[in-house]
Amino acid sequence: MKAVRYHAYGDSDVLVYEDVTRPVAAPGQVLVRVAGTSFNSTDAAIRAGLLQDTLPLAFPHVPNPDVSGVIAEVGEGVTGWSVGDAVIALLPADAPGAAAEYVAAPAEVLASAPRTVELADASALPWAGLTAWQSVYEHADLKSGQNVLINGAGGAVGGYAVQLAARAGATVTATASTRSRDRIRSYGADQIVDYTTTPVPRAVAGRHFDVVLNMTPTSPEATAQLVDLVADGGAFLSITTPGPDDAGRGVRTVHVFVRSDAGHLAQLVARVDDGALAADVAERLPLAELAEVHASYAAQLAEMVRLVARADGTLAARATERAAVSDESPARWLTGKTVLIP
Ligand SMILES: NC(=O)c1ccc[n+]([C@@H]2O[C@H](COP(=O)([O-])OP(=O)(O)OC[C@H]3O[C@@H](n4cnc5c(N)ncnc54)[C@H](OP(=O)(O)O)[C@@H]3O)[C@@H](O)[C@H]2O)c1
Repeated sequence: MKAVRYHAYGDSDVLVYEDVTRPVAAPGQVLVRVAGTSFNSTDAAIRAGLLQDTLPLAFPHVPNPDVSGVIAEVGEGVTGWSVGDAVIALLPADAPGAAAEYVAAPAEVLASAPRTVELADASALPWAGLTAWQSVYEHADLKSGQNVLINGAGGAVGGYAVQLAARAGATVTATASTRSRDRIRSYGADQIVDYTTTPVPRAVAGRHFDVVLNMTPTSPEATAQLVDLVADGGAFLSITTPGPDDAGRGVRTVHVFVRSDAGHLAQLVARVDDGALAADVAERLPLAELAEVHASYAAQLAEMVRLVARADGTLAARATERAAVSDESPARWLTGKTVLIP
């Protein structure tokens, strides 16, 4: 079969589209014929070797933990799934991923695919959707009537978070540039702050929020400003730069790390099929173009490193030893989800 793999950490050109042996379903696994796999910004950080201390890979590595597809084989001991079932999953990030025609997936991470979106497009849901779900419902425990500020709402995770927070009955203030503003408003945001023209603290003019969700890389200074916007006794959650361990004023800080959870994924799928959650896809490309997608993300990865490395010594050390994160930006800026199709 064809797959994209890399044989060492490095720049986007380590990604090679090549012939590899088709996997089989081991006990407890199913073999999925991949319909789609979505690119996540973290895929680029993993490829560059920035996360190798927490997420060491065995090489050659097939990237892309997000998958949608159809079960082609059922391994020994697997119950509840059959050949032909359409599924989605967030695969373990250190296992062979879905940048391939087939991938072996642990049965416990699978959810039935949504019926109302193209199967390939459904691969835009697991990683970003689960991060948003666990941030909004599990860690923030957001309730109806609360005020939430979502910084980075224009990103994939932020877009799901806005929709989930609005559905929870919260009043949502979201940062978005003109590129994403209309989409974020359609997701239910009550107020949009264009972070490219007005600093967020000035735009919200002295208001405080029960919950601030930080869903984009921020400098330590910008992170501290966001923490200051949390009301006494509220919560600051970040999926990127962490807040301080002790923020004072009874403010709880949480550094969120997503985990694969089939139950949460099934609830996201139900929202999609009810029309309550949009799984938008900006672009669909052949899998063979995955290296170009990573190359397009180079400037954003370099910016992420510039911002986050000051609060994360391990990442800073890895970034210093890798030219992979300082390469120049090619033509375009990725915005919205890109789905790769084998
Ligand atoms: N901790 C975890 O478990 C976890 C899980 C998933 C992702 N992540 C991390 O979370 C971050 C977001 O992921 P993603 O997939 O949502 O990324 P993404 O889709 O690549 O987000 C890009 C968007 O971020 C927005 N943005 C950029 N700079 C901003 C700023 N200074 N202020 C406000 N918004 C800004 C832009 O929105 P506009 O279009 O509005 O300009 C841009 O389109 C990444 O760093 C990723 O690695 C962490």
